[in-house]
Formats: sequence, C-alpha cells, structure tokens
Amino acid sequence: AILVLDFGSQTTQLIARRVRELKVYSEIKPCTASVEEIRAFAPKGIILSGGPSSVYDQGAPTVSPEIFDLGVPILGICYGMQLMAHLLGGRVERSLKREYGPAQLRILSTEDLFYGLDPGRTYRVWMSHGDRLEELPPGFVSLAESENSPYAAMRHTQKPLFGVQFHPEVAHTEIGREVLANFVLRICGCSPTWTMESFIESAVREIREKVGPEERVVCALSGGIDSTVTALLVHRAIGERLVPIFVNNGVLRKNEPEEVLELMGSLGLKVRYVDASQKFLERLRGVTDPEEKRRIIGHTFIEVFEEEARKIGNVRWLAQGTLYPDVIESVSFKGPSATIKTHHNVGGLPERMQLKLLEPLRELFKDEVREIARELGLPQKVVWRQPFPGPGLAIRILGEVTEERLAILREADAIVTEEMLESGWYYKVWQSFAVLVPVKTVGVMGDYRTYEYVVAIRCVESQDAMTADWVRLPYDLLARLSNRIINEVQGVNRVVYDISSKPPATIEWE
Ligand code: XMP
Repeated sequence: AILVLDFGSQTTQLIARRVRELKVYSEIKPCTASVEEIRAFAPKGIILSGGPSSVYDQGAPTVSPEIFDLGVPILGICYGMQLMAHLLGGRVERSLKREYGPAQLRILSTEDLFYGLDPGRTYRVWMSHGDRLEELPPGFVSLAESENSPYAAMRHTQKPLFGVQFHPEVAHTEIGREVLANFVLRICGCSPTWTMESFIESAVREIREKVGPEERVVCALSGGIDSTVTALLVHRAIGERLVPIFVNNGVLRKNEPEEVLELMGSLGLKVRYVDASQKFLERLRGVTDPEEKRRIIGHTFIEVFEEEARKIGNVRWLAQGTLYPDVIESVSFKGPSATIKTHHNVGGLPERMQLKLLEPLRELFKDEVREIARELGLPQKVVWRQPFPGPGLAIRILGEVTEERLAILREADAIVTEEMLESGWYYKVWQSFAVLVPVKTVGVMGDYRTYEYVVAIRCVESQDAMTADWVRLPYDLLARLSNRIINEVQGVNRVVYDISSKPPATIEWE
C-alpha cells in the first residue's frame, strides 16, 4: 500500500484516489503520524502531500526526518517536496514570482519519475506555490525545470527520495498519471491488484472474522446506495444473521416504501419493515422550525429503530455506510478532526444499545462504492440515485407538515422525477426535486378564480454538495413540468423555478 501523509492540501484526497485508480491501495494519515505508526503500516511507498504553509512559518507542519531513512521510496509533492528539501539541507525561499495555474515543464531526465516521456519536450503541469526551492539539498539532482522553478523536480542520487513542485494528482497536469504510475508501480514496485472485486472478497472475509458465530447485525436501510451496498456485503458474509430494518417515517416520496422493499426483496435481503409514519406525523404536528423538525425526526427514528432491534435478540453490531470522506473529512496536520460525522440517522444509537460498529465502506470513495454496486448487480437506478435527505419531504414543505401538504408534494415531486428521467436530465444533475411553498396565490382556471399553493422546482449541479449551482434546464422541459404540476396536482396553481446558487442559498429550502 501507499501511504499519503497529509499536510493540509485541498488535493490530498485526490492523491489517494489517483493511486487507487492505478489499482494500488492507498490511505491517508495526518503528517503527525509517528514513525512507529508509519512503520506498522508497512507502506511500500510514502507520498508527502502539498499544503498551505511555508516551511518557515511558525508551527509549520513537519515530519520526523527519520522517515527518510526507512528505506521506503518517498515522493514529496509541492509543500511535501519543499519540506523534504528543507529537512535535508536544501534552501527554500519565498519567490518573487508566485506560480499558480498552468506552467510548462521541461524534463531533464527520462528515468525514474519521468520514465517513458519524451526527453527535451515540455509538458503542461499545474503549479500552486508561493515558496520555491533555491538550492537542492546535498546528494540531490534536478530532474525538471519550469520558468519559475529552477528545480521543478528532484531526486536523490543514492536514496529513493523524490520531489515534484507541480501537482501530478490534478487533471490539468497532462503527465500526472504517468508520474504517479512511475512512482507507485516502478519505483515502489507495487502490483496493481487492488480492484473492487478483491475489495469485496476481503471485506466479506473481514466481516465474517469479526462477527461471532451466534451474533446478529442490524442495519438501517434507506434505499440509497451506501446503506444498500453495506447490507449486501454483510449479507454475503453472514447471511440471515444480518437483519436490515427499513423505517417508514411518513415523509418518504410517492411509492418509496414499496419500491425499496421490492428492490431489497429482489436482492435477497429479508427486511423488517416498520411503518411508523403516524408516530412521526403526530410528533411533527404544529412544528414549523426546520431544525426542530430535523431533531424530532432524528430522535423518533432512533427510538423506533431501537425498539425494533431489541425484538431481535443477540444483536451485537450495527452496520452503517460511512464513507472515507466522512472519516478523513479533515485529517490534516492538526490531527484527525473531532467532528467525524456520525451517520445522521442513527447517531448515538451504538452507545445506547452498546453495539459495535461495522463500517465496511469506511475506506472507500463514493465512485468506488458505485463500482462495487455495479459489481454486486444493483440496477442503475440505485447506483446513480440522487441524494435524498434523512428528514425527507419534511424539510421540503416549508413550515408545518400535514397529510394534505404531503399528498400535494408527493404528486408534484413524482412528476419532477418522472420528467427528469424521461428527458435524460435526472442522471446529469446532482439533485432535482419539488418544494411546497404553502403560500396561496390567485389564479384562474376555466372561468373560476383559484387561490392555491405554490410549488418551487429545485435542480442543482454539484460535486460534493458544499457548493452548487442551479441547472439551466431547457425552457420546454420547465414548461412541461409547470403544465403537468398545475394540471395534475390538486391544490397548486403556480410553479416557480429556483435560480439561487449555494452559497448563499442552500440546496434544500430548510
Ligand atoms: P444543503 O441544503 O445544506 O444540503 O445545501 C446539502 C446536501 O445535504 C442534503 N441534506 C441532508 N441530508 N439530513 C441528510 O441526510 C439532513 O438533515 C439534510 N439536510 C440537507 C441535501 O439533500 C443536499 O444533498
């Protein structure tokens, strides 16, 4: 495996992903990891990430120089290279000319890192640095240069120590994949054997080893990809000793409970279905504050789930679909963050029920989970399903949630989903849905005056939900949505399209 030591760069996760794309397993640790910890991990290579600091900053993140004597190949990227140079006796200085964005890299050697590339040719690479290396540390030679970096890449003449000033992990670096492949496969000698197939195999084996022969595992299904894949892996490992629970919280979409149960059945999972919708809706009655709604739904969910799980007997484990980005959200040189997300649905449950956690996906990125889902035979509808919030339609009905309003929103939302699927837009966007704005406006239908609710359509594109922009849907699609909703949904006489980006708005309206 390749170990990535994080110095706080925005692209640290990308480095690990790129290595995994080479079919070599890679993990990220904060740069504060001790030499013992690193040794115990037994990496075949180490990559030092970039970072926002200058090696001369007070409290600048660093590593123990002992790692350079482990005999393990090390590649420093950007700050990682500057730190390596600084610790080994080179000279780093604040450069008058900063280098941000594309740069032309001239390669001086076509061995090692640049094996297979054309000598003397220049390549477009991506730079992002203020400081630069002014003097190589003793024993190092230069491998490449750019206009603003006399030492844009370096290596030690005897030891397997390498550095690049540019970022091979970003897509804008045209030789990024080659450089990383040369380091990981040629220099470190890793074999490309880490595939999703091998992952499934080892995940299943690990679950089998962990869970005792009499012990049972519960998990909460949502119909989404993470919880479904988690359940399938555990099911493969221990069969019926996995008891998946699906709770109807009363704020699901049209036909959602039926569709989820049917899917789970077709996958061979025996699901315990709990229809607690009345309990949820009673507790939501009269509540208008968005955070209060979230709290009520979260607490009620835990209560219902716990009650159901207690009926099963010998339950020792809770399986959940935590992903790698949640785990390392901010693994940085400050150390792993204290705010690792607990799964919103079941937060606090493991402690209360004294359950141990089973998180088979905690090393994976979302696209890897999608690959596994495909491998396990999940239909495209699930593999590419849009995210849906835990509090469901409750946060898409502004103010109080009532049966009447739920019925209206369910119909409007079903039309949006249907038309998005039909037109092929559903899989191109991050999320698309309807919001019920319980404000009445005047309209005219036939010869009658109407006085009814407003439905807003929200459709956004996003990479990670942190930022988002509204999608420029074609006018005729918007027209069809509006016509259908007003004609087919009783209680709505006006449709509007939300053209706010995030920030300053958010994706959901509450
Ligand atoms: P916002 O509205 O904050 O949403 O821009 C970002 C993403 O998170 C989803 N979301 C939630 N998911 N529980 C969830 O499980 C919640 O309380 C919740 N609130 C928002 C939202 O759908 C979007 O994908």
